Amino acid sequence: MSSHILNVLKQALITFSTKKSKPDTFTSNLQALIELLDKTTAEHVNFPTHFLNPDTWTHAGKAPVSCIGIFEDDQVSMGIFILKPNGKLPLHNHPQMHGLIKVIAGQVKIVSYSLNTEKTKEVDQKGIQDDDSVCIRHRQKHGIVTAELTGVTIANSSSPTCTLEPDFKNLHEIQSLDGPAAFLDILAPPYDYPIARHCSYYARLSQVAPSIFRLQEIRSPSWYWTDSYPYTGPDLYEFNVS
Ligand SMILES: [Fe+2]
Repeated sequence: MSSHILNVLKQALITFSTKKSKPDTFTSNLQALIELLDKTTAEHVNFPTHFLNPDTWTHAGKAPVSCIGIFEDDQVSMGIFILKPNGKLPLHNHPQMHGLIKVIAGQVKIVSYSLNTEKTKEVDQKGIQDDDSVCIRHRQKHGIVTAELTGVTIANSSSPTCTLEPDFKNLHEIQSLDGPAAFLDILAPPYDYPIARHCSYYARLSQVAPSIFRLQEIRSPSWYWTDSYPYTGPDLYEFNVS
């Protein structure tokens, strides 16, 4: 009998490998994936419980974020991110990617932004009309984008799956509230594979209108680094998942 997490992976592979060839079925496939993810728990991936002990995070040199890679091919990557108490994944993007987040332990706050929305276009258009060409060139040169705050979500293991799309909520920061927190993360297609799909980090520069912000691309913050741990859940490679 296949495990729940294998069923999640199979559904993710079906959903994203057929997105282009069978676009009519994408929405229903994605919905089926979300429904499976909604039921996914820490037990399904044999999540190591020592990460939930705050003492784990006080060891000298311990990375503030741990990663457990579960699966990756050219269509889908699946892994677990674990954040220290009051830790954070800095604001970052997912270029032309879909993302699904299911919290499996603790509680997180997800702050999401979207680019190229009606409101951001309105603000940028107004800048052009005001003959703000020097400012526009300055922003392009310095990696400054106009973004709309499109979601602030508090999620725990009882919460539904959170999603991001190529054109909606594509940038986010994720913060653990109180204790450590962990979430299962599915990305499609993966970063940097099969083509370069670089993860960029951003800082919030200023607010220019209600819910509209300028964000500036920055280097990965010095306080953010990760370490990795092996996956110890049900085997996903012994089956022909494709
Ligand atoms: Fe992300």
